[in-house]
Amino acid sequence: MQIVSISSLKGGVGKSSVVLGLASAALEARVPTLVVDLDPHGDASTALGVHARAGHEVGSVLRRPRRGALAQVAAPSPWTEHPITPDSAKAAVREWAPDDARRPRRPVLDVAPGSAASSHLDHASFRPKDLTRLEKALRGLDRYELVLIDCPPTLSALTRMAWAASHKVLSVAEPSLFSVAGTKRTMSALAQFEGSRVWAVPEAGVVVNRVRDSSQEQRHRMQELRELFGPLVVDPVLPDLSVMQQAQGAAWPVHRWPGAEAADLAERFTAILQGLTH
Ligand SMILES: Nc1ncnc2c1ncn2[C@@H]1O[C@H](COP(=O)(O)OP(=O)(O)O)[C@@H](O)[C@H]1O
Ligand SMILES: [Mg+2]
Repeated sequence: MQIVSISSLKGGVGKSSVVLGLASAALEARVPTLVVDLDPHGDASTALGVHARAGHEVGSVLRRPRRGALAQVAAPSPWTEHPITPDSAKAAVREWAPDDARRPRRPVLDVAPGSAASSHLDHASFRPKDLTRLEKALRGLDRYELVLIDCPPTLSALTRMAWAASHKVLSVAEPSLFSVAGTKRTMSALAQFEGSRVWAVPEAGVVVNRVRDSSQEQRHRMQELRELFGPLVVDPVLPDLSVMQQAQGAAWPVHRWPGAEAADLAERFTAILQGLTH
């Protein structure tokens, strides 16, 4: 099981959008996936069509974590019932895992929904041992090959619980001044966090989102991101395309949204997903 946090110490840069795009890519490739929505706003849950009920959301699990307890609040996303293009699905399965005959034929995309109930955990004064709560709640959930965690935009206990549970942390950045600054904050917080903890160090990457090639300011910021983070910048970058918002608004996976722009985005998310496993 590969656990990936999508994080940024800045709001509105596209964390939830990246979670949704990767979930869509994983669905297309038939990779059994769990999305854990740690953001009290619950945007990823909404777009995946899963709604928190009292006592059936991530916050209630993390309050009293037991081994594997996230399974009890995870619900299947209606995305799995949307029509699939057979050829693209076959190609995606081949690329993700050429030899794995054990993969289930029925797609698995579950969501542990987020809600305001987790915001009581979103304060900084946690003891180090509390940071293992999410890791514990994920332990033994072997039915999933991939876990995507949508993080809140603060360096709170929730974010640190996510990092502590993850093999990899993707920080999302836009090529803009404030977002570059936010990415620096995120990466230095991550470096400090790695230095201070006893468990395995997660790998980091920077996903650049909302890229517009026509903007000179953006090109400058893009160059700055590459200078600052070098090989950590994830290839490909994600363009700014209104189809992203349209698919999200319709609670629909981008891999099954019509048109060339959706196909371009879908291909990029599939490439990023493949990069996560290599
Ligand atoms: N590549 C993109 N192209 C167009 N709109 C985008 C793109 N990425 C994100 N957005 C839009 O920007 C807004 C903020 O994105 P969101 O994923 O909610 O950010 P975060 O989770 O970091 O707060 C949303 O309305 C989303 O649809
Ligand atoms: Mg979000």
